[in-house]
Amino acid sequence: MNSELFALREEAKRGRDPACADETLDCLLSLAVQIGAKEILEIGAAEGLTSIALLLAGAERVTAIEKDPARAARARENFVHFGVTAKTTLLEGDAGEILPCLGGTFDLIFLDGPKAQYLNYFPDCKRLLKEGGYLLSDDVLLFGWVRGEPPKKRRMLVEHIREYLDVLQSDPDFSTEIKEFGEGLAVSKKV
Ligand SMILES: C[S@@+](CC[C@H](N)C(=O)[O-])C[C@H]1O[C@@H](n2cnc3c(N)ncnc32)[C@H](O)[C@@H]1O
Repeated sequence: MNSELFALREEAKRGRDPACADETLDCLLSLAVQIGAKEILEIGAAEGLTSIALLLAGAERVTAIEKDPARAARARENFVHFGVTAKTTLLEGDAGEILPCLGGTFDLIFLDGPKAQYLNYFPDCKRLLKEGGYLLSDDVLLFGWVRGEPPKKRRMLVEHIREYLDVLQSDPDFSTEIKEFGEGLAVSKKV
């Protein structure tokens, strides 16, 4: 990986709302290359580092949704810095409002925004994903809490994720595998 991008990711992994785990990025990149993903959607793009990695690996276009204005501004700067601005569409705002209005279709969707909203975003992700495309949902195991006993303060969030996983794994239009690395990554193929 580009050494500058690597350094920015290391910094972002230490922050609040961190960049995705290395194994998650590796999985995203190899899947994107394997299926020849052209159009990618990232929900919760933070500073745009994953979008940039995907573009440098050969994706044609990334549509990135980010709610936080400071992170969206950093993403814009990073896109310029890495020379990928022309291949990005940055949608600044709440994914819950943006997704229902979004058109087009995507080969790959990386769902990495607010975990409690995954289930609400799912119908739009399904609509926007091409047949044979992949939906990758990050942090679906959350420190092991989703399969174990969450701390009291996290019970509601964990319930949301459990509900999302139930719906995703029982949807006949998707074939889903849960990867254990990072905080858990659901890899779902639209069949
Ligand atoms: C875990 S971070 C994303 C990391 C990024 N995908 C990466 O790999 O570098 C989650 C991001 O979702 C954003 N976010 C939170 N709520 C959101 C919402 N309702 N709509 C869009 N983005 C949101 C946060 O501001 C944060 O940047």
